[in-house]
Amino acid sequence: MTGNYHASYDAFKQDPQAFWLNQSKRIPWFKSPSNAYQQDNNGRYHWFAGGELNTCYLALDQHIENGFANETALIYDSPVTHTSQTFSYLELHEKVARFAGVLADLGIEKGDRVVIYMPMIPEAVVGMLACARLGAIHSVVFGGFAAHELAVRIDDAKPKVILSASCGIEIERVIPYKPMLDEAIELASHKVQNSIILQREQSLATMNSPRDLDWHLIEKEATPVAPTPVKAEDPLYILYTSGTTGTPKGVVRENGGHAVAMHYSMETVYGMKPGDVFLAASDIGWVVGHSYIVYAPLIYRCATVLYEGKPIRTPDASAFWRVVEQYKVNALFTAPTAFRAIKKEDPEAMGFKQYDTRSLKRLFLAGERLDPPTYHWLCDKTHLPVLDHWWQTETGWAIACNPIGIEQLPTKVGSAGVATPGFDVQILDMDGNQCEANESGAVVIKLPLPPGCLPSIWQNDERYASGYLSQYDGYYLTGDGGYLDDDGNLFIMGRTDDVINVAGHRLSTGEMEEIVAAHPAVAECAVFGVNDQLKGQIPMAMIVLKDGQEIAQSDIEHQLINTIRGKIGAIACLKNIVCVERLPKTRSGKILRKNLRQLVDGETLSIPSTIDDPSIFNEIQSLLP
Ligand code: COA
Ligand code: AMP
Repeated sequence: MTGNYHASYDAFKQDPQAFWLNQSKRIPWFKSPSNAYQQDNNGRYHWFAGGELNTCYLALDQHIENGFANETALIYDSPVTHTSQTFSYLELHEKVARFAGVLADLGIEKGDRVVIYMPMIPEAVVGMLACARLGAIHSVVFGGFAAHELAVRIDDAKPKVILSASCGIEIERVIPYKPMLDEAIELASHKVQNSIILQREQSLATMNSPRDLDWHLIEKEATPVAPTPVKAEDPLYILYTSGTTGTPKGVVRENGGHAVAMHYSMETVYGMKPGDVFLAASDIGWVVGHSYIVYAPLIYRCATVLYEGKPIRTPDASAFWRVVEQYKVNALFTAPTAFRAIKKEDPEAMGFKQYDTRSLKRLFLAGERLDPPTYHWLCDKTHLPVLDHWWQTETGWAIACNPIGIEQLPTKVGSAGVATPGFDVQILDMDGNQCEANESGAVVIKLPLPPGCLPSIWQNDERYASGYLSQYDGYYLTGDGGYLDDDGNLFIMGRTDDVINVAGHRLSTGEMEEIVAAHPAVAECAVFGVNDQLKGQIPMAMIVLKDGQEIAQSDIEHQLINTIRGKIGAIACLKNIVCVERLPKTRSGKILRKNLRQLVDGETLSIPSTIDDPSIFNEIQSLLP
């Protein structure tokens, strides 16, 4: 701890330009930026104009030049394949520079897009860094998404090349990726030049198209290439996230702001020191994986653990603690759902006691609200600081946290912490007035967003403006509701839109509703999130069948579950489907999804006066399982 949070926050508030220009000195630029932020012709903010850098150089080359070539960069631990492998900075650099040569030979240049659809294996990290080395823009698609979701992203990002693997492994289930990849390429209108497939011995892919290339074979023939300088505002990656409709939003991350924010956050939010070992037990397909499995630890010169396993069942609930002992992990970051799963299987945390976890200094939680029972259980069983922090794919790093790198503040249970320096967090009411302390409203961030946050949506500035900027002039709408208490602690109370969080995975109920509504037997439907002890939330669908449909309830349930799994993926977890005679609506025809959720969760109904017929809730209640 090096200072005073309030002094640091005030320094940012008083002069954001000076604050961030000062922070930009954390990284070695090829050409230093001339100013902190500026607006483009559309009014969008970009950070560190005039600066030139290369993110892969920052993650690898600089450390080698500075004498840390033999320090550990990446630890791959895979209980599902019973293997582990450690890469020094030099070894990872060799692989990345060579693979960048592969991509360059295929014509990939600065600004080209490369989609990465891979499991949690070192080559996925190599692929990301190789793109960064060339100034190409990667777009990682989570391996749990089905072909349709991948196709939608291919059509939006328009990649020249896709990197994939022959299979992923879910505990003991081998999931062949190549058939899904081929189907997605078939479904997409955009035509991909090449797919590079990493063959894993658990299931070899059939190379059935002239576009297919074998990763290992072409890697052997390539020569390493040097990093390409890019402008600070050039995109590093696009990461798609769920919005309120079926079309995901391509969050754009720019090189310059991202690199500075990653470095700053490793120190401020996580209190790490170069050389420490960081375990972010997430997936490279999510923002946590981008920021804290790959970029931030490497830019900051930590060793990062790439864990291809689950919190439980690989092989048991002590998996995380085993990894901590084996690699002397200093900080562990995961979603609360992972600890709820561990708590269920090992309520006394025997696994924690069984392993030597003395290296572990702190636990970080995000992705969903850290519920008080899980917080208390973790504190009781581990005696470690348990730190919630709140962020989104859009921001790429924590909006609110306990800024332990500056000053460890007292924890208020249920709060995600205070605003991180750089984020001017405010709570506004429906009319745009500031709420009082402890009064709930829309959580917004005053513009400009700090470095590392999205400047816009990929090729869709209009969607960025309408989704995030139009509600309150001069503010970014986070989509979360909540309040600030008297001490500036932020309490996030949940989304105010159709986005839900299932086991830390962000999903759109709007998208599920579109898919369910498209079933020929369904007249109308509502999909909404309900409470779940393990996963936080799970989706539930209420459907009204078209008149005259003779389909059995079990058949329609089965068909809808399979359609959702086929279109979105198993992670959607839509398993609760209830057939009802009618749905509750306002007089103007708006379906009252919030009241349906309240009914299922056993909460008091806040029924609007404009409802058509309130007795409908008794009717639906009698149909609930
Ligand atoms: N590829 C293919 N399928 C996947 C997948 C992947 N990468 N990830 C999940 N799935 C599948 C699962 O196998 C499961 O399939 P099933 O319904 O046929 O059994 C389904 O998607 C649901 O998965 P999940 O929600 O993960 O549930 P689970 O019961 O398998 O595991 C947890 C529960 C809590 C252990 C797990 O969700 C977890 O580890 N959560 C942590 C989440 C996380 O790290 N979030 C990132 C934000 S920090
Ligand atoms: P994602 O973009 O997948 O990271 O999901 C972002 C959303 O997850 C946020 O808008 C919140 O709704 C929720 N979220 C993330 N972290 C937290 C947290 N610490 N507390 C409460 N909600 C969170």
